[in-house]
Amino acid sequence: KDYDFGLVGLGVMGRNFILNVADNNFKAFGYDLDEEKVEALKTEGGDLSKVSASTDIKTFVQALSSPRKIMLLVPAGKIVDQAIESLLPYLDEDDIIIDGGNSFFTDTDRREAYLKDKGIHFFGSGVSGGAEGARKGPSIMPGGDKEAYQHVKPIFEAVSAKYKGEPCVAYLGPKSAGNYVKMVHNGIEYAMMQLTSEIYDLLKKSSGLSNGELHQVYSKWNEGRLQSFLVEITAEIFTQKDDLTDSDLVDMILDKAKQKGTGKWTSQNAMDLGIPVPTIDMAVSMREISALKDERILADNLYNRPEIPSISKEELIEKAEQSLYFAFIIAYAQGLHQLSYASKDYGYELDMATIARIWRAGCIIRAGLLADIAEAYTADKEVPNLLLSPSFVPKVQETLPAVRDMVAFAAKSGIPVPGLSSALSYFDAYTSSKLPLNLIQAQRDHFGSHTYERIDRDGIFHTEWGA
Ligand code: 6PG
Repeated sequence: KDYDFGLVGLGVMGRNFILNVADNNFKAFGYDLDEEKVEALKTEGGDLSKVSASTDIKTFVQALSSPRKIMLLVPAGKIVDQAIESLLPYLDEDDIIIDGGNSFFTDTDRREAYLKDKGIHFFGSGVSGGAEGARKGPSIMPGGDKEAYQHVKPIFEAVSAKYKGEPCVAYLGPKSAGNYVKMVHNGIEYAMMQLTSEIYDLLKKSSGLSNGELHQVYSKWNEGRLQSFLVEITAEIFTQKDDLTDSDLVDMILDKAKQKGTGKWTSQNAMDLGIPVPTIDMAVSMREISALKDERILADNLYNRPEIPSISKEELIEKAEQSLYFAFIIAYAQGLHQLSYASKDYGYELDMATIARIWRAGCIIRAGLLADIAEAYTADKEVPNLLLSPSFVPKVQETLPAVRDMVAFAAKSGIPVPGLSSALSYFDAYTSSKLPLNLIQAQRDHFGSHTYERIDRDGIFHTEWGA
């Protein structure tokens, strides 16, 4: 009964997380139905004085010290409910269950209420950083029951990634705040991945950059203001040789992107909140378009592609860097904008600076830019959108001529850049004090008597159009 931490689900993430807990001098016990996974954990390099595992749930629960701290790292959905049900008969009052998966936030609220009735504390916690993060230090996004979190805090702070010594974990807010923040993290992740791939497409199709050159370009960018995990791994991807052929692996990978749903949830929920996140929406749409490979092949044969205007490699690379920097800012701006409105609607009491701080290391969207974002929100906690933050105005302003050139160039070349162009259109719309939506109001009133407001006096108006 002296294990400090229990972990259900010994897949790659679970196994790595538990070894990380043990590295930090906590005793951890794992549980999985799969005998092989349990054995793998015992034989794969962990310090066995600190780690053990079982396929027997009773043995697992009884090995843990009180209050028990049990983290679930299992696929989102029904399996989480099943895991909870299988634990329940053996738990005592005040035990704590933490869901560390990408659960949908309303499922977390439902589970918290259900378990509260039984005297069990439950909270959702985002965990980002993939397999390597889980092993060496993820970014952790807990929310929910604050008191219960205090018991887990020392463990999470020890295992999390560190940014200049600061742990990349913080209690984020009540209820499903942790899962919600992780969901939006993934929405931003989708946008940043889409943007890096669009820029790759532009560089490759219009200037014929080789994978070797692309490696150099992305590596150099990773040393500057674009420094980020996604740019870093992109650089690395271009150097990977294929085991099966003589080609570079990236050229052998089918251009159909899969998705598990978190990006789509971010977009869907942004629509529910009435907050625009078009670059995230586009990233989801592009995964959907990518899946329609057969139709794309048919369509490709029906239409002619324009000739690509000539452009020097240097100019292209320079403008691509500016564009990617601009679009990364917009991706964060949209995601954080959504978070600040969700915080009000759902009572999450989120602090944007804290969120930006715990994203600076460990997670998939970690980037140098997040230090600037954290500072911007520290300077003004209430700023509704990063684009309104004084420190971001010059950063964005400076990139705009290049971004406009790149979007125009891509349009003329027939190279799809929906992420980049949506980022620019979003920027242009959000920064326009006057939009043409007066015409939409006129149309609504014309065909449906939906009424309109006026610019010169208060009240609701309707016109008998054409009368
Ligand atoms: C992370 C990742 C992780 C997962 C993605 C993949 O932060 O560590 O976001 O949670 O790898 O959700 O999502 P898709 O399969 O939908 O691309």
